Amino acid sequence: MKVSNHKGTALVIVLIGPPGAGKGTQCEQLAATLQIPHISTGHLLREYAGGSSAIGEQVKAFINAGNLVPDSLVRDVLEERTIRPDCARGFILDGFPRTRAQAKMLQATLLWLRNAFDLRVLRLIVPTPVLLARLSSRLICPACGTAYNASGRTPLRNGICDVDGRALTARADDLPSTVRERLRIYDQEVAALASFYQERGVLTDIDGNQTVAEVAADFLRALNLQPILDLEKSATQATHSGLRTEDELR
Ligand code: AP5
Ligand code: MG
Repeated sequence: MKVSNHKGTALVIVLIGPPGAGKGTQCEQLAATLQIPHISTGHLLREYAGGSSAIGEQVKAFINAGNLVPDSLVRDVLEERTIRPDCARGFILDGFPRTRAQAKMLQATLLWLRNAFDLRVLRLIVPTPVLLARLSSRLICPACGTAYNASGRTPLRNGICDVDGRALTARADDLPSTVRERLRIYDQEVAALASFYQERGVLTDIDGNQTVAEVAADFLRALNLQPILDLEKSATQATHSGLRTEDELR
């Protein structure tokens, strides 16, 4: 499905949610539906951590302790990715921003990329016991990052990624003690992050404790995007496009 966000501006979707909420799972589907890239800072940083550089080793230590990676490094990773041509129509951010300071950093990055964009923010709400159960059984593809488990997506061949045939592995930061630290940091930061977007009228909460397909359907309803052929009609019907200019973001 090709979609329009009424104004022909870049569509930027931010997905907020605790570890295990299903951000990656939903972003993958949404990216395929909307034909815009899915950018997971966690996945990009894990790739970085897999290298042999000194910075890679430092990133690995932050991730494996369940801590946030320093903002300067995350910003570099994000800017390097969003400047690529495939982001021209927009992109979906998974795991960024995670703090109010990073939300402001994103605004600066978006302004640097272009001066008008359509920003939508979706927050997945999932009870902690469900998150713990999902993460304790998660396997991921080390190459493409696709996540699997018994209750979410199950691979067609046991232990093998459907996308690229690689052997699935557990994530190093899915150890119970690390998951507890990641949840603690999320709980500590999410209220200020959510209020940043609530104040700007762009935040929608989604019940993430449903099947993958039900959550995906709620996402599309919340985004309320129009098929591209309805461009003219949607322009006259639109009452609120979420379009933000540089002045509105200050
Ligand atoms: P990141 O990779 O972003 O991890 P996270 O936020 O902890 O989230 P997860 O990837 O664990 O969960 P998810 O919500 O994507 O769930 P998934 O779809 O896999 O970040 C990792 C680390 O990188 C951070 O701790 C930090 O160190 C660093 N980092 C990243 N971004 C940073 C930033 N901006 N600043 C600083 N540091 C940063 O689903 C989970 C499982 O549940 C899967 O097995 C899936 O199959 C299953 N599932 C999904 N949906 C459903 C469903 N509806 N029903 C049943 N099962 C489901
Ligand atoms: Mg993820």
